[in-house]
Amino acid sequence: MKKIYAINGSPRRSGNTATVLEHALKGAAEAGATTALIHLADLRFSGCVSCFACKVKGGPSYGRCAVRDDLRAVFDQLADADGLILGTPVYLGGESSLMRAFMERFFFPVIRYDAERTSLVNKKYPISFVYTMNVPREQMGAFGYEERFGMSRFFVKMLYGSEAKTLYVCDTKQFQDYSKYDAPRFDPAHKEDVHRQQFPKDCQDAYAMGKAMA
Ligand SMILES: Cc1cc2nc3c(=O)[nH]c(=O)nc-3n(C[C@H](O)[C@H](O)[C@H](O)COP(=O)(O)O)c2cc1C
Repeated sequence: MKKIYAINGSPRRSGNTATVLEHALKGAAEAGATTALIHLADLRFSGCVSCFACKVKGGPSYGRCAVRDDLRAVFDQLADADGLILGTPVYLGGESSLMRAFMERFFFPVIRYDAERTSLVNKKYPISFVYTMNVPREQMGAFGYEERFGMSRFFVKMLYGSEAKTLYVCDTKQFQDYSKYDAPRFDPAHKEDVHRQQFPKDCQDAYAMGKAMA
């Protein structure tokens, strides 16, 4: 039975990103996979501490992260993964700091410092991305988001050898009640419409993504 994991890089356990990931895992589960959703916000961990233990020739941590914090158990869990979905809200035009810290620790140890940037990944499996954001789909180009997120896809291709599928979930509903917040840029009625009409379609796309991965 395949094991498909999803990582939630939002501090919100029931926000847009978590909801989309839950649908992806539902698709994977219905295709017969065992699934688990890992909320980074539940864990105590840092980004890469630049200790380079993962690069010491013949060292005990060569090719793996030596930092002992809550990510260690996650990396142990991911050792038997057959697929992984990384979900993040867009924060200041990039992945959240939780997701960046996770990716530093997850990707850097398996990059060999040779000219070819050889991958030290033992078991290769598909990795997909989910990005949720305020920006409407038609404005993504103006903000250069696809190019910026392309760097993460580049590392997946380099290390895992496959093109990362990416789902963009745009114009998300950020507040339950927009009237309580100072956010005149957003039209609450429009946000509600998108949430009622587009967001369920995005969740369906996530379901299909998870199913295909399994
Ligand atoms: C600190 C912070 C920074 C944000 N920056 C952006 C941004 O640069 N672009 C964008 O489209 N949305 C931005 N957003 C909105 C979130 O990406 C969006 O609401 C997302 O769907 C939230 O996901 P969640 O519900 O899973 O937390 C930001 C939100 C926060 C809290």
